Amino acid sequence: MRVVVSGGSGFLGSHLCEALVRRGDSVHCLDDFSSGRAANIAHLLHEPSFRCTPCDVTEPSRLPGRVDAVVHLASPASPSDYHRHPLPTLAAGSRGTENMLKLAAHHSARFVLASTSAVYGDATGHPQDEEHWGHVNPIGPRSVHDETKRFAETLTTAYRRDERVDTGIVRIFNTYGPRMRPYDGRVVPSFVRQALTGEPLTVFGDGSQTRSFCYVDDLIAGLPAMIDSPAPGPFNLGDPSERTVRELAELVLLLTGSTSEMRFLPLPGDDPVRRCPVVSRAREALGWQPRVPLEEGLRRTIAWFAAQSPHPVREPEPSARS
Ligand SMILES: NC(=O)c1ccc[n+]([C@@H]2O[C@H](COP(=O)([O-])OP(=O)(O)OC[C@H]3O[C@@H](n4cnc5c(N)ncnc54)[C@H](O)[C@@H]3O)[C@@H](O)[C@H]2O)c1
Repeated sequence: MRVVVSGGSGFLGSHLCEALVRRGDSVHCLDDFSSGRAANIAHLLHEPSFRCTPCDVTEPSRLPGRVDAVVHLASPASPSDYHRHPLPTLAAGSRGTENMLKLAAHHSARFVLASTSAVYGDATGHPQDEEHWGHVNPIGPRSVHDETKRFAETLTTAYRRDERVDTGIVRIFNTYGPRMRPYDGRVVPSFVRQALTGEPLTVFGDGSQTRSFCYVDDLIAGLPAMIDSPAPGPFNLGDPSERTVRELAELVLLLTGSTSEMRFLPLPGDDPVRRCPVVSRAREALGWQPRVPLEEGLRRTIAWFAAQSPHPVREPEPSARS
């Protein structure tokens, strides 16, 4: 297959490009490198089946030759990125999604949207299955991200119904692993960086809010399965073992052997209280399920962070996190 991956130099995108090249696909990455890193795909550049075009997907894209599938991941994804870049976030989810849908339509290709658990907002039911419609504040601090993903799902569904594009939607829950940026504001890289450098671990609220953390290799295994499937979804992709943020902090301290303390900060606005996916639909339709336990995934992540430069480029400390 020839697969276009928008956002292919980012955290998830680079792992996906690698997995697709490994299984024999030809991969074309489109990325503006706003939060992606050239280093994430440097090892793929010598592969004849991989190429990368720096571009902004909010501008129309035309690619010569055949395209069999388009996977749309391009979007600011971490709270620190979408708080700093609200309008580009809205553009990536709206114009960017439509441009990628048009590209898929032009080539009669399969289109896969990387949506998010954020469409459930501060969910009223627990755990979250795909029947939940969501509880999102349309003008709240997270809205540029959450609402644009909801709009992207609507747009994708309209292209399926009215333009007969073969579309699929996956709703990704918190995923962690190597290649996350140490200052990207998401909770796992923040805690790991802070533990390794002896800084206090910044816990928002009292840390009793829950998240479900999926190791990147597990998550990525679901994406080729969704490319190959004719199913529209949406399918939740995430690890259903729910942990409190405080438990995560304690585990990171244990696994790093760090003596860092925890510093409790005010909870940001609209922070979801509980988040945990039901993944039975993905299991049935895609034969997918997460396998790597949190302790093992954290060990691998910590080892990767520890092997990076001890002086990473510092980005602004986030005021919210997912
Ligand atoms: N990692 C997670 O836990 C998670 C959870 C839910 C959903 N997702 C979704 O998965 C996707 C990838 O997330 P990630 O964690 O890899 O984030 P990331 O920031 O590492 O990757 C996003 C990529 O998109 C690129 N990009 C952003 N705007 C662009 C534009 N206009 N044109 C071209 N490229 C652009 C960035 O440069 C980056 O390479 C996002 O759509 C995100 O919403 C991720």
